[in-house]
Amino acid sequence: MCGIIGYIGKKEAQPILIKGLERLEYRGYDSLGICLQKNNKLHILKKKGRVEDFKRLPLLANIQGNLGIGHTRWATHGVPSQLNAHPHTDCHQNIAIVHNGIIENYQLLKNVLIKEGHKIVSQTDSEIIVHLIEKFYHGDLEEAVLKTVNLLEGTFGLAIMHKDKNNIIAVRRGSPLAIGIGRGEMFLASDVSAMLEHTRQVVYLKDNQMAVIRRNSFQIKNLDGQKAEKEIKMIKWNLDQIEKSGYKHFMEKEIFEQPETIKDLLRGKIKNNTIKLSLNIEPERIKRIIITACGTSWHAALVGKYFIEHFARIPVVVDYASEFRYRNPIINEGDLVVGISQSGETADTLEAIREAKKKGAATLGIINVVGSTISQAVDSGIFIHAGPEIGVASTKAFTAQLTSLLLFALYLAQGNNLKIEKALILELKQLPNQIKESLANHKEIKALAKQFYKSKGFFFLARGVNTPIALEGALKLKEISYIPAEGYPAGEMKHGPIALIDKDFPTLFLAPRSATLNKIISNMQEIKARKGETIIVTNDPKRLKRLSHSVVEVPLTSEWISPIINTMPVQLLAYYIADLKGCNIDKPRNLAKSVTVE
Ligand code: G6P
Repeated sequence: MCGIIGYIGKKEAQPILIKGLERLEYRGYDSLGICLQKNNKLHILKKKGRVEDFKRLPLLANIQGNLGIGHTRWATHGVPSQLNAHPHTDCHQNIAIVHNGIIENYQLLKNVLIKEGHKIVSQTDSEIIVHLIEKFYHGDLEEAVLKTVNLLEGTFGLAIMHKDKNNIIAVRRGSPLAIGIGRGEMFLASDVSAMLEHTRQVVYLKDNQMAVIRRNSFQIKNLDGQKAEKEIKMIKWNLDQIEKSGYKHFMEKEIFEQPETIKDLLRGKIKNNTIKLSLNIEPERIKRIIITACGTSWHAALVGKYFIEHFARIPVVVDYASEFRYRNPIINEGDLVVGISQSGETADTLEAIREAKKKGAATLGIINVVGSTISQAVDSGIFIHAGPEIGVASTKAFTAQLTSLLLFALYLAQGNNLKIEKALILELKQLPNQIKESLANHKEIKALAKQFYKSKGFFFLARGVNTPIALEGALKLKEISYIPAEGYPAGEMKHGPIALIDKDFPTLFLAPRSATLNKIISNMQEIKARKGETIIVTNDPKRLKRLSHSVVEVPLTSEWISPIINTMPVQLLAYYIADLKGCNIDKPRNLAKSVTVE
């Protein structure tokens, strides 16, 4: 996820681009840059860090012009740095581009370009795009862009400018772009929030479309050369709403983004029914895995244990990062220590990884933020590509961690020549759709929230691979609504916690079809017998309807996919309850998004 902005008109472009980048910062904020055209020259300024610091750069005074593009970055390939920041230029600074998305075949294209003599200076996948345009450019920029995008695999939203041309070219495949229509001026942005103060008339580019934008006009065509219709839309939202894209809170937005984040994550990782991860490890040499993490990431680690032990048959130990470091952990030859962290900056997890390295373990990170301290400390890494998560309570990063762990478990199984059911791979490919279907229940869950938001406490119960989702459901509810909540393996309930059950203390069961469904049904009866209310989340509603008035149906999947699907209703329930209670959902009291102290 990155943010793109463009302007062409009579005004000075710099303040428009910078204000736009400020509005787009939620899409990425590790580095930024702008490029303006004046006197047939490109003037570029880039910097690591945030817009706030960028605005104070004295060099900005030299960057002027009425045509320009800008970018705020969320690193995917290459650490956040000035060199890796966009815009990128060709060898002669004639052409500049900004890119949002991932180019999967960039390494191959890069090798070819280097052989042909192109000087590629950054570690990004994006820079090769501008060198390809340079290669194909013989006076017709449109033609060169078309030839270039035909070679690209992956996703892109692109804005392109040339030192001698009075236009900006925009291309979209997978990553959003919209054109804003002004009077004698035009705008381009990843999100209309970046141009809303200038115009409310916009045209959303569709996938595989290209636009040539001039000061007074623009044309759109499909990448196959066919002319496309321009559908002008009037934006009615106010600025505050649109930053959250119409959602009330970032948390809500991030919950509903999950079909897309998982789609992005899976892209390029399953080919010919095999899992493709470029990891610096040898699965056959791993004797034991220790996973360490904090908070929500620790819950992901618990699910990871089920995945890895089931598919790869490698024993897994899960440890709180804050405990691991201080108990003189035993590390043997063949141990792999995995750190899971959304931010990549959590001090406890970082120190646990350092401790593991000191003791000679191989280390691997499952991280969202590229270039973060943990991502640099580990020997190998899986980036979950969930994009910036702004709500303090982690949602989309959690399901991206779960999906990454499932891919990792299958990758290890493959490496150890263990059989993976083809049906599971097919289901994995369907996961974004299944998540979407699971989110479609939101109205029903909102109604349940109304019914239960005054409860004095909540239990979340499950068995097997769904048990950590019960723990995560309880954590979500308590951290944003401040209702005391506990998650347990359903079988453990009778050994103490059941004492709390009464009519104001409901229990949410995660009960997918599995070998233990009958057992969990008995646990439901135990709660009912004590006058406890139950909410049942299940993919077998016919069987469970007689046990509760509140049954939430989720799509039927294999048991191994069900924890990801079951996460949707528990996130939504916590969100709607907290909203009804009027809580500060995106910034709950006493909590921080990234805890860099021990
Ligand atoms: C904080 C946050 C939690 C998060 C935990 C671990 O405590 O409030 O939501 O799960 O840190 O964060 P990490 O970035 O390492 O995943």
